[in-house]
Amino acid sequence: MARPIQIVPSVLPADFSKLGDEVAALEAAGVDLIQWDVMDGQFVPHLTFGPDVIAAAREHCTVPFEAHLMVYTPDVMAKQYIDAGCARLIVHAEACTHLHRTLGNINELGATAAVALNPSTPASTIAHVLDLVDLVLVMTVNPGFGGQAYISTMEPKITEVRRMIDDAGRSDAIDLEVDGGIGPATIAGATAAGANLLIAGSALYRDPEGLEHAVSDLRSRAEAARAAT
Ligand code: DX5
Repeated sequence: MARPIQIVPSVLPADFSKLGDEVAALEAAGVDLIQWDVMDGQFVPHLTFGPDVIAAAREHCTVPFEAHLMVYTPDVMAKQYIDAGCARLIVHAEACTHLHRTLGNINELGATAAVALNPSTPASTIAHVLDLVDLVLVMTVNPGFGGQAYISTMEPKITEVRRMIDDAGRSDAIDLEVDGGIGPATIAGATAAGANLLIAGSALYRDPEGLEHAVSDLRSRAEAARAAT
């Protein structure tokens, strides 16, 4: 059975001077969970959220947190982000020499594990770790920045990953997430290709009618695209 459509905000465009209020506003707007774009300034140029920042925001809402670890050392950082309140850690396959071990360690630490694929990384990379994850993230931009253009050539890869998940008998256990350039004009293509968890940053914060409208509009567009497939 296909996993439900979920609209998940990236906190990257939020006002960093009041993150407690910002996550409370996202929860009030109806998001399913919140994604923290953790960047180490090495794997990607920016440096963003440390575990203490996430821990401070944790007290201001009740929806689950996931950390998108755009870092070269996920093994070193994993426990800190779990202790900060992240229920899921997403690591980049490109940053992991021993991806199978890294994912297993995250599970042993008590969080669920997930793997992200940059645009140039083939879907086959995750063929032997689907038993260790509850989410696969197909990046639809090159990581490191919000507000980039959606890379539509990733849609065949989204479909390939969806097929891999289904063929592994994990359709009801693994979410297929896409991240980057998701908005009113692109969410239907990503959903029709096979995604069910859609990350949005800029599209949520630039909606003139506010967060709640943005979340509801994106959800409606994704549900309609799924119904049409
Ligand atoms: C890239 C980031 C962005 C962010 C979403 O490293 O992960 O994709 O979450 O950005 P938007 O929705 O503004 O493209």
